[in-house]
Formats: sequence, structure tokens, C-alpha cells
Amino acid sequence: MRVRKKKHGSERILACSRFLIEDPRSLIDDPSVAFSKKRPIHLEIGCGKGSFAVGLSSARQDINLIAMEKVSDVAVTALERAALTENERDDNLRFIIGDAKFLPEYFPAHSIDTIYINFCDPWPKKGHAKRRLTHRGFLEIYRGLLREDGMLIFKTDNEGLFDFSMEEFEAAGLHIVWHTKNLHAEENEIAKNNIMTEYERNFSAKGFNICSAHVRFTKKETEND
Ligand SMILES: C[S@@+](CC[C@H](N)C(=O)[O-])C[C@H]1O[C@@H](n2cnc3c(N)ncnc32)[C@H](O)[C@@H]1O
Repeated sequence: MRVRKKKHGSERILACSRFLIEDPRSLIDDPSVAFSKKRPIHLEIGCGKGSFAVGLSSARQDINLIAMEKVSDVAVTALERAALTENERDDNLRFIIGDAKFLPEYFPAHSIDTIYINFCDPWPKKGHAKRRLTHRGFLEIYRGLLREDGMLIFKTDNEGLFDFSMEEFEAAGLHIVWHTKNLHAEENEIAKNNIMTEYERNFSAKGFNICSAHVRFTKKETEND
């Protein structure tokens, strides 16, 4: 994603600071402190301009959603979108500007119900595989954060990344509950309730199929089990 430096970026972030968790380390004992009501915590990683985060938190008033984006000039748009749609939600959306690799410093163990990864960067070079947000290194981070039986919901237009991710899920011993290589052609509840992301809209308009997987983090079996 090419990012142009946003004019007056820091003032614009300040104007929406009620949606921003300025010090994500403040969540380390209890992420619910960021919200006015206690509800199950869901996390979106790499939220981009925030259209999925705004759509999901409006549709699901039973959850508290934290959306994370590492590029602050992109997060500005997400924060402003949240401010514009504030009245559609029950104060259940917050943002973190930060990198997923620091998540264990932000959240207590097993405090998250569901993680969403939408159209993450594919890092096509083999030598960059560790940077993919579905690489087994990241899956181990998510295992530490998710409650037992917590879910990862993944979408991408990139079939190569999808195949790689499915192999990683299996290698990590995760339970692939459902998957498709053409989400928009499905007729089930998952497809009916699908909330489109910015990238999803763009890529599907260009004729790309959308791949998706729902993955459950069951307890890892040890030799003693
Ligand atoms: C290809 S864009 C997709 C944006 C959005 N999810 C969508 O579907 O429209 C990927 C986004 O993830 C962010 N990102 C990439 N790696 C990240 C990381 N390690 N931690 C947090 N955000 C990350 C990028 O800055 C970018 O905004």
C-alpha cells in the first residue's frame, strides 16, 4: 500500500483520540478498561482505513472490537471514519497504532475471543515468509492471546498466500472449521453476514475471487494428553 504523508496527521489523530488507545500497554491487565462496557474482545490486525472495523462494530454490538494498524497515516482515516459513524455503535470500537509483533506486550494471555486478518500483505518472496501475518511465528503469538477455542477469521484475494496459510494452520495443529476459495459465491450464513473490507471491494470489482478460512485454536495436544 502506497501511503502519502497525511497533512496535519497528528492534529487529526488528536481530534479522534477518544477512539485511540494511546498506550496499548495499559491493556495488559484487562483490555476491557478501554471500553465503557465489558464485552468479549475481538481484534482486527492490519485494519487499514477501517471500513471493516466500523462495519463489524456496528453490526455486532455484543462485542468490543480493537482494530490495529501499524501505519499512522492510514490509521488517521480509520479513526475519522469511526468518528463519522459514532452514532451507529454502542461505544464498542477502539484503535491501536502499532505492530502485531508487539501484541504480547499489549494483551494478557487468553483475553481475546476472535482475531480477524483481512487482506494482509502477501510478502511474495520466500525469504520474507516470516513477515506474513499467518506465518507459524504469528500463529504462536495468536495462540497465546486467544482464549481456548478462540477463532481466527482470515480473508485474502491472494491464492498463493491462502494456500501457504492453510499449510501453516495445519502445521500449527489448528482446526480449520470452514474454508472457501470463492466467498462471494457461497450462500451460507457466513457469506450472508460477510462485511466487506476496502481491499475486498477493490479486488472483487477487478474479478478476483476472495478466499477465506475460519480457524479454531484448540488446546495443543501434548504427549501426556
Ligand atoms: C493490504 S492492507 C489491507 C487493509 C484492510 N485490512 C483491508 O482489507 O482493506 C494491509 C494493512 O495491514 C497493515 N499491516 C501490515 N503489517 C502489519 C503489522 N505487522 N501490524 C499491524 N498492521 C499491519 C498495513 O499497514 C496495511 O494497512
